[in-house]
Amino acid sequence: MSYDTIVIGTGPGGYVCAIRAAQLGQKVAVVEKRKTHGGTCLNVGCIPSKALLHASHRFEEAGHAFAGMGISVAAPKLDLKQMLAFKQEGIDGNTKGVEFLLKKNKIDAFNGTGRILAPGKVEVKAEDGTVQTLETKNIVIATGSDVAQLPGVTIDEKVVVSSTGALELSKVPGKLVVVGAGVIGLELGSVWRRLGAEVTVVEFLDRILPGMDGEVAKNFQRMLAKQGFAFKLGSKVTKVETGADGAKVTVEPAAGGAADVIEADIVLVAIGRVPYTKGLGLDDVGIETDKRGRIVVDAHFQTKVPGIYAIGDVIAGPMLAHKAEDEGVAVAEIIAGKAGHVNYDVIPGVVYTFPEVAAVGKTEEELKEAGIAYSVGKFPFTANGRAKVNQETDGFVKVLADATTDKVLGVHVIGAEAGEMIHEAAVLMEFGGSSEDLARTCHAHPTRSEAVKEAAMAVEKRAIHM
Ligand code: FAD
Ligand code: NAI
Repeated sequence: MSYDTIVIGTGPGGYVCAIRAAQLGQKVAVVEKRKTHGGTCLNVGCIPSKALLHASHRFEEAGHAFAGMGISVAAPKLDLKQMLAFKQEGIDGNTKGVEFLLKKNKIDAFNGTGRILAPGKVEVKAEDGTVQTLETKNIVIATGSDVAQLPGVTIDEKVVVSSTGALELSKVPGKLVVVGAGVIGLELGSVWRRLGAEVTVVEFLDRILPGMDGEVAKNFQRMLAKQGFAFKLGSKVTKVETGADGAKVTVEPAAGGAADVIEADIVLVAIGRVPYTKGLGLDDVGIETDKRGRIVVDAHFQTKVPGIYAIGDVIAGPMLAHKAEDEGVAVAEIIAGKAGHVNYDVIPGVVYTFPEVAAVGKTEEELKEAGIAYSVGKFPFTANGRAKVNQETDGFVKVLADATTDKVLGVHVIGAEAGEMIHEAAVLMEFGGSSEDLARTCHAHPTRSEAVKEAAMAVEKRAIHM
């Protein structure tokens, strides 16, 4: 069988790339080793974690917020089995949706592990051992990433779990120790804390959410601590001993010193993810990887081998579904001779906790390091009418604008629904807009988004409601 483009992996990068290539008139095939499409994101990542975040937030609201609004209900009881079934329905709905889209776009889907035999030749090995070889003009590698391992600690997905195990615990742990205060640790830590676990987060650095704006991270940590999270920052886990009744986690100061032992029912290892290229045959065809195992590509997503491209978590850049999707569209357009492009300066990032944290563009730390003079406009949700009336006033919006040109360089939001609010900043920045453009754009009242406008006005110290 012969194709214009074969995409290996049907995560958000791969399936989006395949659809865009088909839209552009190419004969396309995808190869996926999982039984369902959608990759990490739909099967064991974005989608299931958001289902549990949604359900556990509602559970917490029913227990704590309803009475104050005059809604009197009995104390909510957790039916974890049903909550996990709710999550599974969300996964199934989404993965079936991808299957439908692939069919609709007349994309051939092969179930099995893909291996590149040579440029233009992909071998597919099915689970039952059958092998077939496909021919193609172009190959796009979109094989994603896998859990990073903590040296000396075995993830058994029972007591010591990765995010995948933490999405399907059969019982709420009494004590949950999370290793890593990154996005996964804080999101899944939130889920289990809301459902009743005592959560301790052990983080190597002296801050949470590295990469996010420092002021935002500091404030966010305070909010999480108020919710009951315990943090051991500047600490490393050196040993995890598991037994019949859970685990003993040895924690030492990152700089060395006296060790402490914490007991846990479940330990979640969430110290990052690594590119996944196992069994692809990269060395055989001469595809280069960097020190971190990421496939090296040029500005057109092409590897060292002509006709073989790579996108998504398996290459450099933030490991985010929407970054993978945009690269999927861009590479399909490039292969079709068009001008595909991704603007890496405007990729939003969202932490779907309560409150949410959302950011796009540069942090204050990055601007300082780059020696760029900037102005700051900040507006708290305590002064936003909608947030006040809903009694969800934690957080603020921060707009960072170039001190000379007023061009918006970064926007950071902590607050309920921050993840929905960040996109007006992304659109503004995509068009090279200024804080004044944002400040002069009429925003509907009463909305939380008015806080974005007010923060933009605060850049020139003319916020109204403060
Ligand atoms: P993947 O989604 O990893 O897909 C790669 C696919 O390739 C897989 O299905 C794999 O089976 C297949 N594959 C691998 N090797 C082969 C082979 N040789 N042959 C055939 N198939 C192969 N990102 C967000 O933006 N928002 C979120 O809210 C979010 N939440 C997350 C929550 C969790 C718990 C996790 C773990 C991740 C989360 N992410 C989130 C990150 C997001 O899932 C990834 O950035 C995204 O899935 C990357 O897409 P991808 O297409 O590059 O790879
Ligand atoms: P991460 O990179 O976000 O965070 C890992 C954390 O672990 C860091 O704070 C790091 O300093 C810490 N760490 C590393 N080694 C350690 C050690 N030995 N001991 C203690 N702490 C250690 O990685 P995470 O949370 O595992 O997520 C993986 C990827 O998935 C991220 O790149 C993220 O972008 C993506 N993701 C995105 C989500 C979203 O967009 N909402 C949700 C979940 C995951």
